Amino acid sequence: MAEEPVKDYVLPDLPYAYNALEPYIDEATMRLHHDKHHAAYVAGANAALAKLEEARKNGNFDSIRALSGALAFHASGHVLHSLFWTGLCPHDQSQEPKTGAFLAQVSKDFGSVDLLKKQLGAAAKAVEGSGWAMLAWEPTAKKLIVLQVENHQKLSVQGAVPLFVLDVWEHAYYIKYQNKRADYVDNLWNIVKWREVETRFESASKK
Ligand SMILES: [Fe+2]
Repeated sequence: MAEEPVKDYVLPDLPYAYNALEPYIDEATMRLHHDKHHAAYVAGANAALAKLEEARKNGNFDSIRALSGALAFHASGHVLHSLFWTGLCPHDQSQEPKTGAFLAQVSKDFGSVDLLKKQLGAAAKAVEGSGWAMLAWEPTAKKLIVLQVENHQKLSVQGAVPLFVLDVWEHAYYIKYQNKRADYVDNLWNIVKWREVETRFESASKK
Protein backbone atom coordinates (compact mmCIF):
# COMPACT_ATOMS: atom_id res chain seq x y z
CA MET A 1 0.00 0.00 0.00
CA ALA A 2 1.36 3.43 -0.94
CA GLU A 3 2.16 5.68 1.98
CA GLU A 4 0.19 8.89 2.38
CA PRO A 5 2.36 11.85 1.41
CA VAL A 6 3.26 14.19 4.29
CA LYS A 7 0.86 17.11 4.33
CA ASP A 8 2.31 20.59 4.66
CA TYR A 9 -0.74 21.95 6.45
CA VAL A 10 -2.60 20.13 9.22
CA LEU A 11 -5.90 21.00 10.90
CA PRO A 12 -5.17 21.74 14.57
CA ASP A 13 -7.55 20.55 17.30
CA LEU A 14 -9.55 23.22 19.06
CA PRO A 15 -7.86 24.13 22.36
CA TYR A 16 -11.22 23.71 24.20
CA ALA A 17 -14.54 21.86 23.83
CA TYR A 18 -16.94 22.78 21.01
CA ASN A 19 -19.37 24.27 23.55
CA ALA A 20 -16.72 26.12 25.61
CA LEU A 21 -17.48 29.53 24.10
CA GLU A 22 -21.24 29.34 24.77
CA PRO A 23 -23.36 31.39 24.91
CA TYR A 24 -21.33 33.83 22.81
CA ILE A 25 -20.46 31.32 20.07
CA ASP A 26 -22.73 28.28 19.91
CA GLU A 27 -21.60 24.67 19.66
CA ALA A 28 -23.23 24.04 16.25
CA THR A 29 -21.33 26.98 14.73
CA MET A 30 -18.04 25.81 16.25
CA ARG A 31 -18.47 22.29 14.87
CA LEU A 32 -19.18 23.46 11.34
CA HIS A 33 -16.65 26.24 11.45
CA HIS A 34 -13.72 24.12 12.64
CA ASP A 35 -14.53 20.68 11.20
CA LYS A 36 -15.80 21.80 7.79
CA HIS A 37 -14.71 25.34 6.94
CA HIS A 38 -11.25 25.37 8.52
CA ALA A 39 -10.64 21.81 7.31
CA ALA A 40 -11.49 22.88 3.76
CA TYR A 41 -8.84 25.62 3.85
CA VAL A 42 -6.24 23.11 5.03
CA ALA A 43 -7.20 20.74 2.21
CA GLY A 44 -7.21 23.61 -0.30
CA ALA A 45 -3.74 24.79 0.71
CA ASN A 46 -2.31 21.27 0.47
CA ALA A 47 -3.98 20.78 -2.91
CA ALA A 48 -2.53 24.03 -4.25
CA LEU A 49 0.98 23.00 -3.18
CA ALA A 50 0.54 19.55 -4.77
CA LYS A 51 -0.62 21.10 -8.05
CA LEU A 52 2.31 23.51 -8.06
CA GLU A 53 4.66 20.56 -7.59
CA GLU A 54 2.96 18.84 -10.51
CA ALA A 55 3.34 21.98 -12.63
CA ARG A 56 7.09 22.04 -11.92
CA LYS A 57 7.37 18.36 -12.83
CA ASN A 58 5.46 18.86 -16.09
CA GLY A 59 7.11 22.16 -16.87
CA ASN A 60 3.63 23.55 -17.44
CA PHE A 61 2.80 26.79 -15.66
CA ASP A 62 -0.36 27.65 -17.61
CA SER A 63 -2.39 27.64 -14.36
CA ILE A 64 0.14 29.59 -12.29
CA ARG A 65 -2.16 32.53 -11.66
CA ALA A 66 -5.03 30.40 -10.36
CA LEU A 67 -2.72 28.17 -8.31
CA SER A 68 -0.85 31.08 -6.72
CA GLY A 69 -4.18 32.68 -5.86
CA ALA A 70 -5.52 29.43 -4.39
CA LEU A 71 -2.41 29.02 -2.25
CA ALA A 72 -2.69 32.59 -0.89
CA PHE A 73 -6.42 32.21 -0.14
CA HIS A 74 -6.38 28.76 1.47
CA ALA A 75 -3.10 29.03 3.39
CA SER A 76 -4.14 32.43 4.75
CA GLY A 77 -7.50 30.93 5.72
CA HIS A 78 -5.70 28.20 7.63
CA VAL A 79 -3.32 30.61 9.39
CA LEU A 80 -6.08 33.03 10.39
CA HIS A 81 -8.44 30.32 11.69
CA SER A 82 -5.61 28.80 13.76
CA LEU A 83 -5.00 32.24 15.30
CA PHE A 84 -8.72 32.82 15.81
CA TRP A 85 -9.25 29.65 17.89
CA THR A 86 -6.27 30.27 20.16
CA GLY A 87 -7.16 33.94 20.62
CA LEU A 88 -10.46 32.95 22.25
CA CYS A 89 -11.25 31.20 25.54
CA PRO A 90 -14.19 30.49 27.84
CA HIS A 91 -15.66 33.65 29.39
CA ASP A 92 -14.41 32.89 32.92
CA GLN A 93 -10.81 32.79 31.65
CA SER A 94 -10.98 36.04 29.69
CA GLN A 95 -9.24 38.88 31.48
CA GLU A 96 -8.24 42.27 30.08
CA PRO A 97 -4.62 43.29 30.74
CA LYS A 98 -4.14 45.47 33.80
CA THR A 99 -0.34 45.90 33.61
CA GLY A 100 2.60 44.99 31.35
CA ALA A 101 4.31 45.78 28.05
CA PHE A 102 1.28 45.01 25.85
CA LEU A 103 -0.96 47.36 27.82
CA ALA A 104 1.72 50.08 27.63
CA GLN A 105 1.92 49.66 23.83
CA VAL A 106 -1.87 49.72 23.46
CA SER A 107 -2.02 52.91 25.53
CA LYS A 108 0.68 54.49 23.35
CA ASP A 109 -0.86 53.51 20.00
CA PHE A 110 -4.61 53.66 20.74
CA GLY A 111 -5.03 55.59 23.98
CA SER A 112 -6.64 52.72 25.92
CA VAL A 113 -7.84 49.11 25.64
CA ASP A 114 -11.33 50.51 25.30
CA LEU A 115 -10.37 52.59 22.25
CA LEU A 116 -8.55 49.62 20.72
CA LYS A 117 -11.73 47.54 21.14
CA LYS A 118 -13.81 50.32 19.59
CA GLN A 119 -11.54 50.59 16.53
CA LEU A 120 -11.17 46.83 16.09
CA GLY A 121 -14.92 46.32 16.54
CA ALA A 122 -15.75 49.09 14.05
CA ALA A 123 -13.29 47.58 11.54
CA ALA A 124 -14.86 44.13 11.97
CA LYS A 125 -18.43 45.39 11.54
CA ALA A 126 -17.49 47.35 8.40
CA VAL A 127 -15.58 44.64 6.49
CA GLU A 128 -17.06 44.53 2.99
CA GLY A 129 -18.36 41.01 2.36
CA SER A 130 -16.38 38.13 3.88
CA GLY A 131 -13.29 38.85 5.92
CA TRP A 132 -11.57 39.61 9.18
CA ALA A 133 -10.47 42.40 11.46
CA MET A 134 -6.95 42.15 12.80
CA LEU A 135 -4.75 43.63 15.49
CA ALA A 136 -1.19 43.39 14.21
CA TRP A 137 2.34 44.38 15.19
CA GLU A 138 3.89 46.46 12.42
CA PRO A 139 7.66 46.01 12.87
CA THR A 140 8.82 48.82 10.56
CA ALA A 141 7.14 51.61 12.52
CA LYS A 142 7.14 49.48 15.71
CA LYS A 143 3.43 50.09 16.24
CA LEU A 144 0.26 48.16 16.85
CA ILE A 145 -2.16 48.64 13.96
CA VAL A 146 -5.73 47.55 13.20
CA LEU A 147 -6.45 46.21 9.73
CA GLN A 148 -9.39 44.87 7.80
CA VAL A 149 -8.80 41.73 5.74
CA GLU A 150 -11.04 40.89 2.80
CA ASN A 151 -11.49 37.17 2.19
CA HIS A 152 -8.39 35.84 3.99
CA GLN A 153 -5.55 37.62 2.24
CA LYS A 154 -6.49 41.02 0.80
CA LEU A 155 -5.65 44.46 2.29
CA SER A 156 -2.59 43.15 4.13
CA VAL A 157 0.32 45.26 5.29
CA GLN A 158 3.26 43.07 4.29
CA GLY A 159 5.37 42.01 7.24
CA ALA A 160 2.78 42.93 9.88
CA VAL A 161 2.40 40.14 12.44
CA PRO A 162 -1.20 39.27 13.37
CA LEU A 163 -1.76 39.16 17.14
CA PHE A 164 -5.54 38.81 17.33
CA VAL A 165 -8.12 38.25 14.60
CA LEU A 166 -11.91 38.41 14.44
CA ASP A 167 -13.61 36.22 11.86
CA VAL A 168 -16.58 38.03 10.30
CA TRP A 169 -17.36 35.60 7.50
CA GLU A 170 -21.05 34.70 7.75
CA HIS A 171 -20.09 31.09 8.53
CA ALA A 172 -18.66 32.39 11.84
CA TYR A 173 -21.98 33.66 13.20
CA TYR A 174 -24.99 33.08 10.93
CA ILE A 175 -26.57 30.11 12.77
CA LYS A 176 -26.92 32.05 16.03
CA TYR A 177 -26.89 35.70 14.97
CA GLN A 178 -28.32 35.55 11.40
CA ASN A 179 -27.56 38.93 9.81
CA LYS A 180 -26.67 40.67 13.10
CA ARG A 181 -22.90 40.78 12.64
CA ALA A 182 -22.60 43.73 15.04
CA ASP A 183 -24.14 41.74 17.93
CA TYR A 184 -21.72 38.87 17.28
CA VAL A 185 -18.72 41.24 17.23
CA ASP A 186 -19.83 42.97 20.45
CA ASN A 187 -20.19 39.58 22.16
CA LEU A 188 -16.70 38.43 21.15
CA TRP A 189 -15.16 40.77 23.75
CA ASN A 190 -16.44 38.38 26.43
CA ILE A 191 -14.20 35.54 25.22
CA VAL A 192 -10.88 37.12 24.18
CA LYS A 193 -7.84 35.32 25.54
CA TRP A 194 -5.88 38.51 26.28
CA ARG A 195 -3.03 36.54 27.87
CA GLU A 196 -2.43 34.87 24.47
CA VAL A 197 -2.52 38.24 22.68
CA GLU A 198 0.05 39.58 25.16
CA THR A 199 2.33 36.57 24.61
CA ARG A 200 2.16 37.01 20.84
CA PHE A 201 2.93 40.71 21.21
CA GLU A 202 5.93 39.99 23.42
CA SER A 203 7.30 37.52 20.89
CA ALA A 204 6.63 39.68 17.78
CA SER A 205 7.92 42.95 19.23
CA LYS A 206 11.21 41.38 20.38
CA LYS A 207 12.33 40.63 16.84
FE1 LIG B 1 -14.08 31.30 9.43
